[in-house]
Amino acid sequence: MASSDQPRAQWLGRWGFMLAATGSAVGLGNIWKFPYMTGEYGGGAFVLVYLICILAVGVPVMMAEIAFGRRGRGSPIDAFRRMATESGRSPVWSLLGWMSMLAGFMILSFYVVVAGWSFSYLWKTLSGGLNAGSVEALAAVFDANNASPWNLGFWSTLVTLATMVIVGKGVQEGIEKNVRWMMPGLVLMLVLLIGFGAFSGGFGEALAFLFSFNAGSLSSAGMLAALGHAFFTLSLAAGAILTYGSYLPKSASIGRTTLAVALADTVVALMAGLAIFPVIFANGMDPASGPGLIFMSLPVAFQAMPLGTLFEVLFFVMLSMAALTSSISMVEATVSWLCDSKGFTRRSAAWSTGIVLWLVSTAAMLSFNLGADWTLAGRTFFDWLDYLTSRWMMPLGGLGTVILAGFLLDKHVMRDELDLSPTLYTLWLLMARYVSPLGILVIFADQLALFTVSFAQHWPWLLMILVAMIAVGEFLSPRLRTSLAPR
Ligand code: TRP
Repeated sequence: MASSDQPRAQWLGRWGFMLAATGSAVGLGNIWKFPYMTGEYGGGAFVLVYLICILAVGVPVMMAEIAFGRRGRGSPIDAFRRMATESGRSPVWSLLGWMSMLAGFMILSFYVVVAGWSFSYLWKTLSGGLNAGSVEALAAVFDANNASPWNLGFWSTLVTLATMVIVGKGVQEGIEKNVRWMMPGLVLMLVLLIGFGAFSGGFGEALAFLFSFNAGSLSSAGMLAALGHAFFTLSLAAGAILTYGSYLPKSASIGRTTLAVALADTVVALMAGLAIFPVIFANGMDPASGPGLIFMSLPVAFQAMPLGTLFEVLFFVMLSMAALTSSISMVEATVSWLCDSKGFTRRSAAWSTGIVLWLVSTAAMLSFNLGADWTLAGRTFFDWLDYLTSRWMMPLGGLGTVILAGFLLDKHVMRDELDLSPTLYTLWLLMARYVSPLGILVIFADQLALFTVSFAQHWPWLLMILVAMIAVGEFLSPRLRTSLAPR
């Protein structure tokens, strides 16, 4: 059964973890989600709060998560249990591992749909379907692409298949080698787009939009979204970074690695903003046009530049690759758990996960066409997956992680694992104990307030969900108790 006495697979090269963690962090979150959220929440103020969240919450949580993975040597479930029991705490902490694995799976279910957009735009560029010209025409192309479940389903199925093939091959082979050429390529494409934007007439406006702090546009909803996105973009609390950390050799410095990954991730997000907003302003688009933003704006820029089609192809290749190196990391937790604890081979683990994933992601895909009206409290299934993970599960997982790391583990554990200078360690401890939890609790306070209001409107539904959850919980609890028992 559990193969914990065998040495665990490790990264191939010294840069393996860095590359893979950066590959996981840099993805659609940076290039698709960050710009459209910035547009929706009013620009500079959102960007500032986001940067603070990355530094004050994201970095400490990521350090703890990597340390848990490396010391816990296993899937999130095993790692949380081992870390807790090692310090004499309850094995029930492994529930955090369950939740993060579920979060990773749920994120992937909607992520493959967006990655499918990227793949389909690559195809459209190649086949000449994007030469539409105006922003309005491109918006129509985006809508038409979503309208057919067969079309959209084809692309998200393709992404699911690609993810599972790579994961089945193993992380080291599948990931390390790809990230090595993909990251520099992506940065190059963004530089090119920014260079183009600098001459397009909208650059000044874009700079002002992104970097001038306008306190008036700082809504509480925007702040909460910024924190949720900090978790999302760094791939935190969804099992990904933890599982990657479990392949990290003892000699690597967690602090330095974390800073490098967070920096790379942030730079790519800001570059994406600088590439996209000049086009938006120069063409009079609304920055708050939502999830379709990059797909409606960037083709305009490409069409206007020399060799545009070539660059557009390269851009969508890079974006699709960036999406794949992220999607791979989201299933890695589930796959490593199936292999370690359930005796699956890597391949069968990848394919069984893939089948379930395909079912859930197909339901998410339908939110854009057939199922657009299947809403609960105003959210489609796709929106629910995003909302539950970004606003609840990831923050809750992050909170549990820092509380365990900052207060409950034996004093020496995190000090040994992080191996920082005394000053830096104290700084980390302060962040992990007070700054991060406080920031996260603010989210929940606000969410709870919203929840109370919507509860008043939707209580019959919520009651039914609650009853169903209790029923499922009762059914699972004997198994849970046996699986949680210390071995
Ligand atoms: N960070 C990725 C992005 O920005 C998304 C992602 C990958 C992710 N793995 C994750 C998000 C794990 C949460 C958890 O595109």
